[in-house]
Amino acid sequence: MPALIAPSILSADFGNLERDFDMINQSQADWFHVDIMDGVFVPNISFGFPVVKALQKVAKKHMDVHLMIVDPDRYIADFAKAGAQTLTVHYEACTHLHRSLQAIKAQGMKAGIALNPHTPVSVLEDIISDADLVCLMSVNPGFGGQAFIERTYEKVRALKRLITESGSSALIEIDGGVTLDNASLLHEAGADVLVAGNTVFGSSDPIQTIAELKSRTQ
Ligand code: DX5
Ligand code: ZN
Repeated sequence: MPALIAPSILSADFGNLERDFDMINQSQADWFHVDIMDGVFVPNISFGFPVVKALQKVAKKHMDVHLMIVDPDRYIADFAKAGAQTLTVHYEACTHLHRSLQAIKAQGMKAGIALNPHTPVSVLEDIISDADLVCLMSVNPGFGGQAFIERTYEKVRALKRLITESGSSALIEIDGGVTLDNASLLHEAGADVLVAGNTVFGSSDPIQTIAELKSRTQ
């Protein structure tokens, strides 16, 4: 199965958001990837509910929301109302991760766990069967357009083993520095979902670039 392609709207043109949302709707992209940053968990602030709700009105594709915020439990119900379909919290931001995942599912959403580059996959051993998705950060979260951390391939393979051995159905998502050059290697290593910000929005033909990302993971 080809990878699911999830353009990150963090790299969209915020003066032309509706145009960029439409472009994703018309493309072969599978998901919208929505990055929420609070300036505390990560050294950047992105956008909040007004943008997510504007997307909700027009999105024809799955809304994948990545929370890079401290204490995400406070906002789970609000993101469900704003249209999130997968809600991903950071392992590093959740003291009671099991409870957070259950709270996300209780709101009717898929529950994802994101791991920073320094966090080993092995910490997921006792929680993997509760997760619908694991997002491996392949850059330090906070900004689009950063260089891919090569160590990620090993982490994808380790995560794939953990998922297979535990009988979990969690999807593996890769977030940060995904390009036309590493997409097929990531998919071969076991990635199911590829997030792409700069590769899509920095391209002169984003629709064609999304198609190309998709075709490289056939
Ligand atoms: C990084 C965000 C990513 C970012 C990816 O903190 O979580 O989703 O938008 O952007 P690129 O693909 O440009 O690395
Ligand atoms: Zn993200």
